[in-house]
Amino acid sequence: MGLWRWLGRPGLFLLPPERAHYLGMGAFSWLTQLPLAGRGFRACYGLSDPRLMTRCFGLDFPNPLGLAAGFDKNAQWFNSLALLGFGCIEIGSVTGQGQPGNPSPRLFRLPLDQAIINRMGFNNQGSSSIAGRLKKTAPARRDRQFVLGVNLGKTKVVPVEMAETDYSESLRALFPYADYFAINVSSPNTPGLRSLQDRQPLERLLQAVQVTNRQEANRHGQATKPILLKIAPDLTESQLDEIVDLTLEQGLQGIIATNTTLQREGLRTPNATIEKIGAGGLSGRPLTQRSCQVVRHVYTRLQGRLPVIGVGGIFDGQDAWRMITHGADLIQLYTGFIYGGPGTAHRILRYLQRKLDHHRLDHISQAVGRIELASH
Ligand code: FNR
Repeated sequence: MGLWRWLGRPGLFLLPPERAHYLGMGAFSWLTQLPLAGRGFRACYGLSDPRLMTRCFGLDFPNPLGLAAGFDKNAQWFNSLALLGFGCIEIGSVTGQGQPGNPSPRLFRLPLDQAIINRMGFNNQGSSSIAGRLKKTAPARRDRQFVLGVNLGKTKVVPVEMAETDYSESLRALFPYADYFAINVSSPNTPGLRSLQDRQPLERLLQAVQVTNRQEANRHGQATKPILLKIAPDLTESQLDEIVDLTLEQGLQGIIATNTTLQREGLRTPNATIEKIGAGGLSGRPLTQRSCQVVRHVYTRLQGRLPVIGVGGIFDGQDAWRMITHGADLIQLYTGFIYGGPGTAHRILRYLQRKLDHHRLDHISQAVGRIELASH
């Protein structure tokens, strides 16, 4: 953490957040292409332990920790990012058509709260262009040491009533390259998107997506791809129950909880600053507790019928352990990586190993849902 904490982060945090993102990732991905760099990064950050290997929805994850959607929206850096120890990279959100997203500034750091507010608005190059890049850069599954997820959102100009055509278009274009798809109906920055979490529109959307999934599987002579649903942390318990039930009815393969929140309660950042920033989704430390609660609720409702991916406010091993013991089979982070730097995944995985030793568990799956272990 030293070099990142004292040099890397302060340097990058001097720049506007979006510029820092592209500059930092440009430099990092250039570094990883130097001769022997891949091996070097893997030696520093990689961690291979059969106790952490996790099989979920038919896919083998080398470890349960993934990089959440939104970091590599255009699938530019996923091969480099995987060298930092992540077992899974979820690219996107990808929309049917390319779009510029909201006007800048649209990304804000809240260091006092270890948080971020963003209203990016699904800036991305669109499904066909990203499929073109993946065709060139995504290694075949057997040559890859990580799982590649593709997160799908809705193009802003497509009306919510036509959402299924947009998601289906992306699914069709990206089908050959994704190990799984996440249907994102929970970003707060596309008008009306979260209304797709209501029962009727969600049922229509998931039905349509599953039809396209089967069509594409036939066309490519492959099995259907696992489809997961990504939900917001701002849902009531009865909304959560309804969504879980629908997910089961529609034959989805898992739930990702959660996206960013619209809540602003309990922040240390002065109110005036928060008001000046304005609209957007809040991520990071303020989300830790809420995401864990949502994961617990979903896990309890599911009764083991589907896996849960826990995401929101994971910064360190303790957060990761808490999420797993609350019911997450897999976990993801984004904001914790911004604050924690390149060693974040490695540190978290090492901590999980120590927890397994401490509790004399043979495998990480034995900790899933064991809330009694959460604080030990
Ligand atoms: C996100 N997130 C996100 N999620 C998603 O499904 N599609 C997306 O395009 C994005 N974009 C995005 C941009 C930025 C700048 C941030 C900070 C986050 C949400 C992200 O994947 C995750 O669900 C939340 O950020 C909560 O996790 P963390 O950040 O607290 O670990």
